[in-house]
Amino acid sequence: MAGNNRGADGAVGPITPDPARGPQPAAPTRASWSGRLAFVLAAAGSAVGLGTIWRFPYLAAHYGGGMFLLVFVVFMLTLGVSLLILETALGRRTGMSVIGAFAAYGRKYRPIGAFIAAIPFIIASYYAVIGGWVTRYVFAYAAGMAAQLADGGTNFMTFVANGPVSVAFMLLFAAVTFIIVALGVNGGIEKANLVMMPALIVVSVGVAAYALAQPGALDGLAYLLLPDVSKFSLELVIAALGQTFFGLSVAVAIMVTYGSYMKPDVSITTSAFQTAGTTLGISLLAGLMVVPAAFVALGSGEAVAENSGPSLMFLVLPQVFQHLGAAASAIGFVFFLLVMFAALTSMISLVEACTSLVQDGAGWTRRRSLIAVIVVVSVVGVVVTLGYSSLSFVQPLGAGSTILDLFDFVTNSVMMPIAALATCVFVGWVIGPGEIVAEVRRSAPFRGAKAWTVMVRYVAPVLLVAVLVSSVLRSLGVVSF
Ligand code: PHE
Repeated sequence: MAGNNRGADGAVGPITPDPARGPQPAAPTRASWSGRLAFVLAAAGSAVGLGTIWRFPYLAAHYGGGMFLLVFVVFMLTLGVSLLILETALGRRTGMSVIGAFAAYGRKYRPIGAFIAAIPFIIASYYAVIGGWVTRYVFAYAAGMAAQLADGGTNFMTFVANGPVSVAFMLLFAAVTFIIVALGVNGGIEKANLVMMPALIVVSVGVAAYALAQPGALDGLAYLLLPDVSKFSLELVIAALGQTFFGLSVAVAIMVTYGSYMKPDVSITTSAFQTAGTTLGISLLAGLMVVPAAFVALGSGEAVAENSGPSLMFLVLPQVFQHLGAAASAIGFVFFLLVMFAALTSMISLVEACTSLVQDGAGWTRRRSLIAVIVVVSVVGVVVTLGYSSLSFVQPLGAGSTILDLFDFVTNSVMMPIAALATCVFVGWVIGPGEIVAEVRRSAPFRGAKAWTVMVRYVAPVLLVAVLVSSVLRSLGVVSF
């Protein structure tokens, strides 16, 4: 979906940050989205992906259901939307991706941009691994293996433990992304997505309704929707915060780049709310599909919370499909194919962002930058994949954890909160919120400007510092909450 940035020749024009020049509106030669719909589609395409469909349900299941959902919704509609507005406007104001955008206000701010720019590289490397799992499921359903996939999860475990096969599917998923980014055929992907996204929603509604009709599923519904105060914890807050950033693709250098392709007459606030609304809606739908199904499979809330991790979707949905008898293979195939599409549009945005960052940062050609990204993502992707087989002795976060868990934790729970904090302090206190407010007002009235300013200057920094400090204290063993 990141394709509208390309000129007719399929290449992105060079972006040369010039600190002496100061922030200026995007150069007229910089390509732009064709309109608001194109921007919202691209932003939503980046946002809605595995984070929404695969990650949200297992986090909600793991962290006590309704309480997690409540905190997540609050974060999405306050901090999430505020950051989406901020990043888009910062990108449009400077006409640059994140390193250049920070450097535009002084060379000394470049390291902040560089720190944020490292995040999409790490995410892309493990995103490809989960994309590989989804791809493998598409093939397995096509081969009529519905019964094996539903087999109490043993099949998923056997699969990820098979190093060479997992590596092959990871590379296949990554290769499709690389080819799309290299050829600049996103126009087609964007159009395909116009059909695929609604199709995903329709199929998901059907699957959710079916899952909810199973005996025992209503307990799952109650667990997902009703907040239980006793479940509130610091870990839950950090997880909900990380999921807000991950789900919206903010605090990861992507929306600044996307904003830099946005035309001045497109309303930033409307786009931000539409993107957040879509992501929130599909997260909830994915939760309705997976969490009740997990209750049917696992019985109690404790069992669900204990057993919920990255494998949850891959374990419980095949069991739901299996109840459908003869139709299981067909439904499974269609469902995972649609998930694969949602994952591809997000993966494209990651690879696109990494490429434009290398281009900006190293001053290389687009081609050379893309090759560098391909090498890094593939090599690191192989290591992450093997974390489930030959490298499974590496358990960085304690017994049973994997390299993927580490990457996920380091980005979502550590680097992204720091990136968000740095961005808010930079805008709120260094360049001043007026910069962004003025940019937002170029296209439409910004009625929430006051609330947004308070959010960026005070609420977000205080919240993020509190979360970061308490999690450091906790990991040092100073406090125990
Ligand atoms: N938001 C994407 C998803 O939910 C993941 C992603 C994160 C994509 C960060 C780009 C950047 O799947």
